Amino acid sequence: MISIAPSILSADFAHLATEIAKAEEGGADLLHVDVMDGHFVPNITLGPPVVASIRKFTELVLDAHLMIEEPSRYVDDFIRAGVNWISVHAEADRHLNRTVAYIQDRGIRAGVALNPATPVQALEEILPDLDFVLVMSVNPGFGGQRFIPAALEKIRKLRGIISSNGYKARIEVDGGIGPANLGEVLEAGAEIIVAGSAVFHAAAGVSAAVRELKQIARRQTSVLEAT
Ligand code: DX5
Ligand code: ZN
Repeated sequence: MISIAPSILSADFAHLATEIAKAEEGGADLLHVDVMDGHFVPNITLGPPVVASIRKFTELVLDAHLMIEEPSRYVDDFIRAGVNWISVHAEADRHLNRTVAYIQDRGIRAGVALNPATPVQALEEILPDLDFVLVMSVNPGFGGQRFIPAALEKIRKLRGIISSNGYKARIEVDGGIGPANLGEVLEAGAEIIVAGSAVFHAAAGVSAAVRELKQIARRQTSVLEAT
């Protein structure tokens, strides 16, 4: 099953509730929440209070992507705010094993995110434990950047390791994805697709944009299943 996760980073923050409702209406499976600390990445976004407000408004799975230095300091706050999934960056946490176990012990799905220059090998020891891996296909910090093509090979590599070992980790891909390249990202082995500007800046509107991505994903799944 392919999941589409609109990233609210590109939404109109003054009308967040309306924007989320539109994404939900289009069939969004998750809501991707980009948390940036102005330190790990050169941008600042939102924190637990905003997440808590969103939580009251939607029942969608909240997927918190923590672009925070030493993210374990804030895990409790985000869990209390109501997130369902948390990813921390391999580059930002020296104790990934401890953080992942801590998150999972609280009934939350745990993932590790990899910057474009961080090799898949960085996950070798932790991969069997993960609920998901977040492959960054742009350098994190901003929406609307161009997809880095080398991410495709990285997804394929991960897909091979996960499938051949029977690991449970799902592959989420984030950055520069839209209708034009969704097919190749799925073909490489991605299962959860984050899309920010392709959803919230779409000329056709937010609901229609999510619907289109879902449609492409459905078509692609039936092609892949038939081969
Ligand atoms: C980038 C964020 C992404 C971003 C994606 O640092 O992690 O989730 O919102 O936006 P687009 O889809 O516009 O690249
Ligand atoms: Zn993200």
